Amino acid sequence: MRTLSSPTPRDIVHTPTSEAQKYGYQKNTEPPLLPSVVKGRRASCSATAWRRAGLQVGSVTAASLLLGSVYWRLARATSDRRIRSPFRGSGSHAPHPADTSMLYLVGLGLGDATDITVKGLEVIKQCSRVYLESYTSILTVGKEALEEFYGKELLLADRETVEQESDDILKAAGDSDVAFLVVGDPFGATTHSDLVLRAVKAGIPYRVIHNASIMNAVGCCGLQLYNFGETISIVFWTDTWKPESFYDKIKKNRQNGMHTLCLLDIKVKEQSYENLMRGKKIYEPPRYMSVNQAAEQLLEIVKNRRDRGEELAITEKTICVGLARVGAADQKIAAGTLQQMGTVELSGPLHSLIITGCMHPLEIDMLKLFAIEESCLDNLTMSDSSTYFS
Ligand SMILES: C[S@@+](CC[C@H](N)C(=O)[O-])C[C@H]1O[C@@H](n2cnc3c(N)ncnc32)[C@H](O)[C@@H]1O
Repeated sequence: MRTLSSPTPRDIVHTPTSEAQKYGYQKNTEPPLLPSVVKGRRASCSATAWRRAGLQVGSVTAASLLLGSVYWRLARATSDRRIRSPFRGSGSHAPHPADTSMLYLVGLGLGDATDITVKGLEVIKQCSRVYLESYTSILTVGKEALEEFYGKELLLADRETVEQESDDILKAAGDSDVAFLVVGDPFGATTHSDLVLRAVKAGIPYRVIHNASIMNAVGCCGLQLYNFGETISIVFWTDTWKPESFYDKIKKNRQNGMHTLCLLDIKVKEQSYENLMRGKKIYEPPRYMSVNQAAEQLLEIVKNRRDRGEELAITEKTICVGLARVGAADQKIAAGTLQQMGTVELSGPLHSLIITGCMHPLEIDMLKLFAIEESCLDNLTMSDSSTYFS
């Protein structure tokens, strides 16, 4: 995920670049030099002139520091709030002046309504409008349960709203605080950079309240996060569209000894071909790809590649991990072969699949806790002195 900047602890609140340029400070370094401080510096610079005039440097420096400090205090009391707003509450979450609005991107975590952070909940309570992004992920509870727990009405924001009507969200954020809720982490395997970039362009400050993401929570199966390669998405095949590009990324990861996290397709607000053709806004029920469906598609690719005489990156016997509803009370993890993933029962959504790369003995011991059959982890090939491969 590309970020706009590499935030320092003091850069939790992001400010539009135009504002940064306007007030002449650099991003991601020191906090801004407010006009008052700049004035203080000018006072300090004038020491050269004083010194030339033969006065004691020490006393002049002290005087200029004092002057700077008085200016600073005065300016703090009277200065334009817009100047200070980008850094207000930085590091804390104290209430802020009502005349400066903010766009908050709030992560909801992975399980249910109670996975929100204390910071996130405080933000929701103070916002005049709260949108719930509803197309990249889901919790185990629906909108009503969230509304009850947060004590706030939520506006559902589907892909259309976010991509085509983001101006409405930003217009609201220009008038008063607005929260945009995202399941997991707002920047974990979801790209809301577009909304952020538009906010920055419109001069609306934004702040991100992070939470757990599937990108880090998969560590619960025992495979170590620093042994993962590129994350991939497995899409639902249709009768006429069966892309295999994700297999090639798995191949690259396996060649490098890395595990592959496969995020599985979600289809919400999908129109049937007929309804699309007739322009009827009738939507199919949501679909969430299961580990079984992902494994079936992968097994078909393995077969295709074998038929073509290719050297295989994975086989039916490759060790995989299926994960369902990570973070929820009824989460399920199952380790076994790709073939076994085709039939393992993990019940309701959301599901993720991991294809293993080289495994450390400790990772293998952890996987045994979740093994469908422990014996599948007994016959691994030693890839080097300390790791094993399936
Ligand atoms: C586009 S990602 C959304 C990521 C989200 N913003 C986050 O930070 O977790 C959605 C995919 O991640 C996986 N996923 C998300 N939450 C999950 C969970 N609790 N358990 C298993 N898989 C999950 C599923 O494969 C799902 O289709």
